[in-house]
Amino acid sequence: MHNRRIGDVLVTAVGLGGMPMSIEGRPDESQSVKTIHAALDAGVTLIDTADAYHIHPDEVGHNETLIAKALASYGDTSEVLVATKGGHLRPGDGSWQVDGSPAHIRRACEDSLRRLGAEAIGLYQFHRPDPAVPYAESVATLNDLLAEGKIRMAGISNANPEQIRQAYEILGGRLVSVQNQFSPTFRTSEPELRLCHEMGIAFLPWSPLGGIDAAADLGSRFSAFNEVAANHGVSAQQVCLAWELIKSDVVIPIPGARRPQSTEDSVRATELALSADEFALLDRSMESNG
Ligand SMILES: NC(=O)c1ccc[n+]([C@@H]2O[C@H](COP(=O)([O-])OP(=O)(O)OC[C@H]3O[C@@H](n4cnc5c(N)ncnc54)[C@H](OP(=O)(O)O)[C@@H]3O)[C@@H](O)[C@H]2O)c1
Repeated sequence: MHNRRIGDVLVTAVGLGGMPMSIEGRPDESQSVKTIHAALDAGVTLIDTADAYHIHPDEVGHNETLIAKALASYGDTSEVLVATKGGHLRPGDGSWQVDGSPAHIRRACEDSLRRLGAEAIGLYQFHRPDPAVPYAESVATLNDLLAEGKIRMAGISNANPEQIRQAYEILGGRLVSVQNQFSPTFRTSEPELRLCHEMGIAFLPWSPLGGIDAAADLGSRFSAFNEVAANHGVSAQQVCLAWELIKSDVVIPIPGARRPQSTEDSVRATELALSADEFALLDRSMESNG
């Protein structure tokens, strides 16, 4: 299993995204725990979550609580980095709202810390810029939380290049990760990916398979992924993650899963070697798909 770096921590080059286990369409808890345990059995040492991964307003932190429970019933998880986020709200009508105010981020972080039952949160990410709050104010709160020891590392999400540079500056160079949407269907984060490569900051593609509803159709939408997958006798999803991993050694995809088989298959992407010709074929196929 190949490892990559987030700050000073080595994690598996493919992590597990927790969102599908807690939002609309989620499985029952025992299946979710099995899925998390399957990821751990497969060697995964990075799990991504957020306080906003829930459905009803009275279950904020559903996914964090689930992950804490699964980890507590597993055995040695000292090598596992749990990365959570704050700054999004789900009022219960299916929408996603933002609150990037320092007061909210601080409270959200303290609540996440309690739910995760850790001394400090391994990686805390500001979930999404709030147009009503200066970005510098939201990010400065991460700085305070670092100084207070409530979080070990700080990251941002859904950020543009200017915000990445700004956050890096405000955090005195201690920005360790950027989590943006990136997949064959959503490639507009290429500039952020390149900037992270130049700056040596981990880039965590979210919805790396195109999202919960589209992941299964990846190979039919982008037939080159099926073609390459057939060459190697693997899934198109595995090829997709391998294609992302080749882009830069700062890339660490976090595919979501509701089933153990999904995460077991995804993790194998770290061992899948694509040739330069295959990589070029995949890139070209996306240009023709728009
Ligand atoms: N920062 C943000 O704003 C933000 C936004 C969205 C998501 N995220 C994070 O990114 C993570 C990933 O995104 P996502 O879950 O939305 O989308 P995704 O990873 O693109 O797709 C998730 C779906 O892919 C399927 N899947 C995973 N591995 C597979 C494989 N090897 N073969 C076939 N199917 C496979 C799973 O199916 P099954 O359900 O059947 O297992 C799962 O439902 C989230 O879980 C969350 O942690 C962050």
